[in-house]
Amino acid sequence: MAGMDKSKIGGGKNRGEKGLFEKVWTLANHRGFVFPSAEIYGGIAGIYDLGPLGAKMKNNLIQAWREFFVLRETNPPVYELDGSTILPYDALKASGHLDSFTDPTVSCLKCKKWMRADHLIEDSLGMYVEGMTPEELTKIIRENNLVCPDCRGGLSDVSVFNLMLGVQVGPAGGQIAFLRPETAQDIFLDFKRVQQSMRAKLPFGIAQIGKSYRNEISPRQGLIRVREFTQMEIEMFVHPKEIGNHPSFDKVKDVKIRILTREQQKKGETEPMEMTATEAQEKKILPNPYMAYYLAKETIFYQSLGIPYDKFHFRHMMPEETPFYSGGNFDLEVELSIGRKEIIGNAYRTNYDLSNHMKKSGKDLSISIDGEKVIPEVVEPSFGVERAIYCVLEHCYREDDGRGWSWFQFPPKIAPITALILPLVRKEPLMEISFKTYENLKENGLDVDYDDRGSVGKRYARADEIGIPFCVTIDYDTTKANTVTIRDRDSREQAFINKDDLVGIILKLVSGVIQFGDLL
Ligand code: ATP
Ligand code: GLY
Repeated sequence: MAGMDKSKIGGGKNRGEKGLFEKVWTLANHRGFVFPSAEIYGGIAGIYDLGPLGAKMKNNLIQAWREFFVLRETNPPVYELDGSTILPYDALKASGHLDSFTDPTVSCLKCKKWMRADHLIEDSLGMYVEGMTPEELTKIIRENNLVCPDCRGGLSDVSVFNLMLGVQVGPAGGQIAFLRPETAQDIFLDFKRVQQSMRAKLPFGIAQIGKSYRNEISPRQGLIRVREFTQMEIEMFVHPKEIGNHPSFDKVKDVKIRILTREQQKKGETEPMEMTATEAQEKKILPNPYMAYYLAKETIFYQSLGIPYDKFHFRHMMPEETPFYSGGNFDLEVELSIGRKEIIGNAYRTNYDLSNHMKKSGKDLSISIDGEKVIPEVVEPSFGVERAIYCVLEHCYREDDGRGWSWFQFPPKIAPITALILPLVRKEPLMEISFKTYENLKENGLDVDYDDRGSVGKRYARADEIGIPFCVTIDYDTTKANTVTIRDRDSREQAFINKDDLVGIILKLVSGVIQFGDLL
């Protein structure tokens, strides 16, 4: 594969509309979704804080994920864990992260900047260099006379860099530990505890949502490559003899999924194939029905976040790109203006982690079934929250369509604010009724806002700009007939409803039980 154009295998540039990334990223900064952490001190590259709107969107996204992938799952059930972000040296040695969790790096001999050697070569030459040794990468750099893209200085030889961030626990000479590079490791370490405390029988899953840390060599592209990020991961533990049978597969059997196979990539094809979960299984494109189950559910989930079906697919990673622990990876890649980006890693982790932890710790992590010691196999979907947030921002961004401003078309269930309550004018009793309506909606668990400043048009504009799906106006009809006006962000149509029905109607609109058109 050396020398191949990377854009041909799906992970490459595939650049779209120029400047869209900058536009969306600038808006996200200005509108309070995300900004650099510790900004007044210059911050740290690749570390961001989510502002009021970003934090709400993140919580909504996590809640939607939890409901769909954890709380509503019955067979197999999925249990939750909230593990430590600091893990001891021995655990990460056993997991393979100390030896293998590395990226190739190169530095500029003049300005001292550090860069990912593979990214430098891919960006400068468009070559596919995944899996190459440092020596091979150095050779390519020398043969092509590559220099520092910033100052044109000469480059060092390529070396490997471990991505884990170390911490020292306790006073001087204390225990060496690391911030976890994936949430998955706590799950493997606690597997036996969870199994025993929940009296769980195979198959069952353990899910964890939390921060992971990677000392990325060159963090870039906003939230896409950061050093501290949130993962939502499930490790699904399955009896090795049962890996070919998912008890709830029928629920997803007809879901259509888009897959870019290894054969297609070798031929340079970029258009994924569409098939049902059943077909993917029967054609042996996927290693087991557990993988098919997750790809189907992820397809449904990502569309519900506002990412169009034809803008994402699952790419079977080539052998040289597959993580060291995986028996097969299918990455969900989303098409963005900055190229196709991996948002979810789906890995068939076999019994790699449990076996290694058993060997290194000397503890028995197997389960006894009918007198036989069984080490379960594992299928893992690994979601990144920050990357998902950026995808939602870009795919829901809308240019001015005649309304006079750009706006975000967030699906109501993940929009940071569900409804804006506004009095028609800044006069009583309209203000008091509006504020009480706002309080009532909040007491009913709805994330709403109140705004009585500026003309109604300006307030609608402000609401659209941050993607609020519904505006509720209190006017003089409210005082006479107890009606309110609901404005739909997408169609800009207005419906008149009884104020007492407001909570129920908004809840139904958010859950999708009714559509706005049903109110007209
Ligand atoms: P990449 O190849 O882009 O570095 P990866 O293969 O290292 O990604 P995984 O190790 O599979 O990513 O991690 C699982 C998920 O965690 C990713 O799909 C992504 O959503 C998220 N993730 C990983 N690294 C980062 C990062 N540096 N910044 C933001 N999210 C990340
Ligand atoms: N748990 C998969 C990963 O973070 O790489």
